[in-house]
Amino acid sequence: MKRSLSVLFFLLFLCLSTVTSDLESDRRALIVIRNSVRGRPLLWNMSDSSPCDWHGVRCVAGRVTQLRLPGAGLFGSLPIGGIGNLTELQTLSLRFNALSGSIPSDFANLVVLRNLYLQGNAFSGEIPSFLFTLPNIIRMNLGENGFTGRIPDNVNSATKLITLYLEKNQLTGSIPEITVLLKQFNVSSNQLNGSVPKSLSEFPRSAFEGNSLLCGSPLNPCEDVVVESPSSSPVGKKKKDKLSAGAIAGIVVGCVVGLLLLLLLLVCLCRRKKEENGAPRNVEAPVVVAPTSSAAAVPKETAVVVPPVTESGVVSKDLIFFVKSFGEFNLDGLLKASAEVLGKGTVGSSYKASFDHGLVVAVKRLRDVVVPEKEFREKLQVLGSMSHANLVTLIAYYFSRDEKLLVFEYMSRGSLSALLHGNKGNGRTPLNWETRAGIALGAARAISYIHSRDSTTSHGNIKSSNILLSKSYEAKVSDYGLAPIISSTSAPNRIDGYRAPEVTDARKISQKADVYSFGVLILELLTGKSPTHQQLNEEGVDLPRWVQSITEQQTPSDVFDPELTRYQSEGNENMIRLLKIGMSCTAQYPDKRPSMVEVTRLIEEVSHSSGSSNPVSD
Ligand SMILES: *[C@@H]1O[C@H](CO)[C@@H](O)[C@H](O)[C@H]1NC(C)=O
Ligand SMILES: *[C@@H]1O[C@H](CO)[C@@H](O)[C@H](O)[C@H]1NC(C)=O
Ligand SMILES: *[C@@H]1O[C@H](CO)[C@@H](O)[C@H](O)[C@H]1NC(C)=O
Ligand SMILES: *[C@@H]1O[C@H](CO)[C@@H](O)[C@H](O)[C@H]1NC(C)=O
Repeated sequence: MKRSLSVLFFLLFLCLSTVTSDLESDRRALIVIRNSVRGRPLLWNMSDSSPCDWHGVRCVAGRVTQLRLPGAGLFGSLPIGGIGNLTELQTLSLRFNALSGSIPSDFANLVVLRNLYLQGNAFSGEIPSFLFTLPNIIRMNLGENGFTGRIPDNVNSATKLITLYLEKNQLTGSIPEITVLLKQFNVSSNQLNGSVPKSLSEFPRSAFEGNSLLCGSPLNPCEDVVVESPSSSPVGKKKKDKLSAGAIAGIVVGCVVGLLLLLLLLVCLCRRKKEENGAPRNVEAPVVVAPTSSAAAVPKETAVVVPPVTESGVVSKDLIFFVKSFGEFNLDGLLKASAEVLGKGTVGSSYKASFDHGLVVAVKRLRDVVVPEKEFREKLQVLGSMSHANLVTLIAYYFSRDEKLLVFEYMSRGSLSALLHGNKGNGRTPLNWETRAGIALGAARAISYIHSRDSTTSHGNIKSSNILLSKSYEAKVSDYGLAPIISSTSAPNRIDGYRAPEVTDARKISQKADVYSFGVLILELLTGKSPTHQQLNEEGVDLPRWVQSITEQQTPSDVFDPELTRYQSEGNENMIRLLKIGMSCTAQYPDKRPSMVEVTRLIEEVSHSSGSSNPVSD
């Protein structure tokens, strides 16, 4: 008995140690990459023992599965022993950098790689044929690089491939016959010659343009009668033979059948168009079965299961996951889970969904989505790639014509708004200074993180009902980045006490307008007054102006929430410092407001000097 137990422990130990050593090897490989590529440094914290929190890195089950560093200003060439050693990598996105050299030969080790996005770099050399023998490759974008030589003949080895973008390179020779069912294809602006293979003639002209020696449908017909196809297909040969009566009969029958099929397809397409007028053009042809459409109305190819897509915009009929660590479930499961209404917000209603096996998630049902599907998916992809300790994790989303769902992690303490202004009779505990300062800091860090993504990225809807709290009262910011996809008319008509004065369109919120809203939030935290409060609005003043008038006429401490000052004699000075930060954020003119980074730094100083046990960690 004792023996078997120790064996068990030994096995467990072995298991654990291999897991950690694999992650350790992933970490080493990432460092190899970091040390080889130059340019704007990768701000990875080398004292972290796990690479999983590094910018652009995502792990699942203790292995690196995604590396995304788009537009990060990287240059130099990729080393051997870097990406090739990330053997659990599923998505690699290095698009729009300035990387050069050839694709390292050890990319052949990436056996679970699904998505390869290298477009917009300066890679050169031939496109390695081993890319097409990667067993799981689905999407490959090598466009806008300096690849030379021929398109490898073994494209058809990539049986799952649906996207192949090779435009804007210097590829020569002819296009091989491609029999895998590609849904997206582009070889425009290369130096390809010969004729377009029949299997690709369905793609639009623009997929082939810019190759002056290329001919055949959808481009101009080839001048030679004999079509020189590289792997001359039997169909091509038949044309040269004299036609027998049987063949003619066959052709006639074929034509009739073809015509009927075409008609059927047209009818389907028309119906489809009506249903989904937002679908991107190049995704229309491969119709994907919507959950409700009857099987009879759908052409056969559509039975192909399309995997959920990330960067290229193909449609999925189930949930698309960004994070799997919360547990696996599908749309059906989600719809069957017991649901409880949490509230109605500006973007839609929220529900708490509890699964039988114990998992609880929050589901947001979006209303009035105004952007087309492609843009919606692109935007969601960006939101899904965000990851910060003070952001509510977006677990998955679902898009269909009449249902748009976002699945978030569930926050048991509800919103800051409810905690500040909720009914005192309901066992609501007053928030003390430490907690409020911690919430301000956590929210500041999350917004700062959002702003750091790109100078045009903003939260767009900062208010206390969008600041959720974890069990330990850690602030988690939600509803980030949704404003641009929601119709602005769906916003409530009443005066929005958080909106910066310069904002005219709720869908276009600048970072400085975010700072303003954040300032209002700080004032709300300190005064305990809701910016949308009836009384304030009736007086025609907003919260910043109210605070301003009180601090000018009376002592500053008169503005504070009585709940905050009742038990607090010391720390008052820090409250005033935080109040000043809030007021500077709500400056009338955007230029006068500090940046979110600056605000975060100031709040850090306040909360450190007040010695508050800081509940928020990075
Ligand atoms: C990459 O993998 C190879 C072969 O497994 C190994 O020899 C090498 O040390 C690894 N490189 C790093 C940086 O871990
Ligand atoms: C790096 O991480 C360590 C702890 O893991 C932390 O003490 C340090 O402040 C971090 N450095 C930066 C620049 O974030
Ligand atoms: C296409 O170009 C290659 C050289 O890049 C040449 O060898 C070949 O003969 C050309 N084929 C046609 C059909 O023009
Ligand atoms: C192919 O790429 C070119 C250049 O980027 C673009 O203009 C064209 O619209 C693309 N066509 C298709 C079908 O993707």
